[in-house]
Amino acid sequence: MNAIETSGLVKVFGDTRAVDGVDLTVPAGTVYGLLGPNGAGKTTTVRMLATLLRPDGGEARVFGHDVRADPNAVRSLVSLTGQYASVDEDLTGTENLVMLARLLGHGRAHARSRAERLLEAFGLTDAAGKQVKHYSGGMRRRLDIAASILNTPKLLFLDEPTTGLDPRSRNQVWDIVRAVVAHGTTVLLTTQYLDEADQLASRIAVIDHGRVIAEGTKGELKASVGVGAVHLRLRDAEQRPSAQRVLADVLGAEVLLDHDPLALTARLSGHATEQAAEVLSRLAREGITVDNFSLGQPSLDEVFLALTDKKKSKNENEEAAA
Ligand SMILES: Nc1ncnc2c1ncn2[C@@H]1O[C@H](COP(=O)(O)OP(=O)(O)O)[C@@H](O)[C@H]1O
Ligand SMILES: [Mg+2]
Repeated sequence: MNAIETSGLVKVFGDTRAVDGVDLTVPAGTVYGLLGPNGAGKTTTVRMLATLLRPDGGEARVFGHDVRADPNAVRSLVSLTGQYASVDEDLTGTENLVMLARLLGHGRAHARSRAERLLEAFGLTDAAGKQVKHYSGGMRRRLDIAASILNTPKLLFLDEPTTGLDPRSRNQVWDIVRAVVAHGTTVLLTTQYLDEADQLASRIAVIDHGRVIAEGTKGELKASVGVGAVHLRLRDAEQRPSAQRVLADVLGAEVLLDHDPLALTARLSGHATEQAAEVLSRLAREGITVDNFSLGQPSLDEVFLALTDKKKSKNENEEAAA
């Protein structure tokens, strides 16, 4: 059973095609990553799936229920946390969860025990009696997630759950996501962070300008970009242009210049070790000093760059042909 199936999903705001024909298939029981930069259309997609926005075109089903024809059935299965929050700043953690549990129809005693258990599971027991306005960002995010799983949903939307959090709080949220999935909930996770998708998601759709530009398992996405990558770190930043030329020449591939002025990365296409050996000997012959050299799978960062570049050059070609 798929948790989510969409085909040709569209949402238009004035001149903006925020979601421009999205096809998604999200298997139940997994974390599915919707990865894309700011403005890509992630939140708009999630809001349509959560029945908060009406699609302008295409279809979307949640556990087989059409979001337009049967929104109540969808609402009974899903929960959303992220850009709109339901917790009240002036109430304590406990008060928030008890109140929300009561709204969801739990009896007083059950609401209290559910709140207590969730606060404990999310490491918020010490803060349970504090007003939420005194919580840190990480604590607040954890409370948001706790609130969204008071009634264990079949599908949980986590819309950029760690944006703006420090690394320690991010790790805590990641642990929570893993725990939620272990209990059988399907999670649709939107993120701008490639490492987050890499850590949590079994499948990933990369979305840009309202369209899915790539989809697959992490391994498939990486493989679609090449068998691997070579990372170089030079002794002297002034030699980087020459090193870039050598790499492009030997590998016939695009060379990415890292933010680090000493570093370069290039994708390998075929026989990785032979190509790497050839690169090293050419660099040595040209007197370029390499301090660090490594071969590895491309990171999701590189995957994303490669995919968006590919799309850009394809569009440019199409424009040129038109
Ligand atoms: N309510 C709205 N009215 C007008 N434009 C919107 C609205 N919501 C989103 N957009 C636009 O739609 C595009 C996609 O936005 P969004 O789905 O929020 O992207 P993401 O969540 O990936 O950052 C952006 O260009 C954004 O400015
Ligand atoms: Mg968003």
